[in-house]
Amino acid sequence: MNLLIKNVNLLSMEEDKVLEGVNVYVEGDTIKHIGELLPDVKVDVVIEGKDKLAMPGLINAHTHLGMSLFRNYANDVPLFDWLTKYIWPLEARLTAEDVYWGSLLSMIEMIYSGTTTYCDMYFFMEEVAKATEEIGIRGVISRGIIEEQDAKVNEEKLKDTENLYNAWNGKAEGRIKVMVGPHAPYTCGPTYLKEILDLAKRLGMGIHIHVSETKREVEESLEKYGKTPVQHLKDLGIFEVPTVAAHCVHLTDEDIEVLKEMKVSPVYNPTSNLKLASGFAPVEKMLKKGINVALGTDGPASNNNLNMFEEIHFAATINKALNEDALSVPAFEALKMATVSGARALLWEREIGTIEVGKKADVILIDLNKPHLHPKNDLISALAYSVQGSDVDTVIVNGKVIMEKREIKTVDVERVYYEVEKRAQNLIRGEIS
Ligand code: NI
Repeated sequence: MNLLIKNVNLLSMEEDKVLEGVNVYVEGDTIKHIGELLPDVKVDVVIEGKDKLAMPGLINAHTHLGMSLFRNYANDVPLFDWLTKYIWPLEARLTAEDVYWGSLLSMIEMIYSGTTTYCDMYFFMEEVAKATEEIGIRGVISRGIIEEQDAKVNEEKLKDTENLYNAWNGKAEGRIKVMVGPHAPYTCGPTYLKEILDLAKRLGMGIHIHVSETKREVEESLEKYGKTPVQHLKDLGIFEVPTVAAHCVHLTDEDIEVLKEMKVSPVYNPTSNLKLASGFAPVEKMLKKGINVALGTDGPASNNNLNMFEEIHFAATINKALNEDALSVPAFEALKMATVSGARALLWEREIGTIEVGKKADVILIDLNKPHLHPKNDLISALAYSVQGSDVDTVIVNGKVIMEKREIKTVDVERVYYEVEKRAQNLIRGEIS
């Protein structure tokens, strides 16, 4: 199918500039031409771009999609109680079907707010893959691995990842990628982490892991290994494969050097860090070093939404106050984290992250005809400081229109809401759905 986005304001993210009156041609899944109208080219679908802004689909580089089932269940309680008293007992009852519906709900929310690619770590990942295939979004899936007492169980978890890789890596027209997902250096011991690393190397996978999210984690690592989590992971060789390091809140200057040297991509999750009182990631310092900082929402139970425009807004505002510097993390830098840097972190920079000829057509259109977007003085600032997720009008992934005029075309949204309500209530009541 050939598609034309006609006469649109374009922020390609290749440069810090919005072009007006641009035409974007898509052939199949690929962007073929950007610029003038081509009178001789036949197109099947024309999307009118007047009063719209086209930009690359946003990339949520760290989340736990299935946790939408626990959204707004038990908040304003200490992290330890939240996990042990509320979340873990519910997670123990989760079924594969629950994760399917919860993930689908999260994907609907992401599409509505302009996210076209996610990076997920959770359980029952085959279900997440199925939901991804159906709804038409793009994603990296990792089976979350926590080491247990039973060696057999630990081995099975590695086997699960290998099976997931064989079944789904590169599937759904290339929209699905599999990475290995050791949960964190404090939930996987050194020997197990080495086995995980061997698997990643053998299959050519990246690693998705939580790193230095809390002060306590760093203190415990220093006590146990005499090293920070970053140093510990480096010494184990983990960073020899491309690594997506969620959080990276508590870092020493030496840690930052390691991340730079080993080309690790930290994922900044401002809302989650605020809500869970984890602290403030040294984003400005990392950016100044040239580290590839991506952006994520974390799970919808610790955020409690998956709206990447909110994360962009926080990234561009919190760091100014934190550094007492109004120049800290300018609008375009925050937008880069959610596009270009996200693509690089997920090893997809050749395919997505910018709107360029030859790249996959992952494009969102924002409706500029909103009170908070008038007057149109500076659209890049508008994207970081004024745009709401609900301003996203149309979403194209891999050349396919999956939302048009805020209507998702690939799944029955009402059915998903119904299933999620029913399943969430059953989980809380302790019944099997
Ligand atoms: Ni997380």
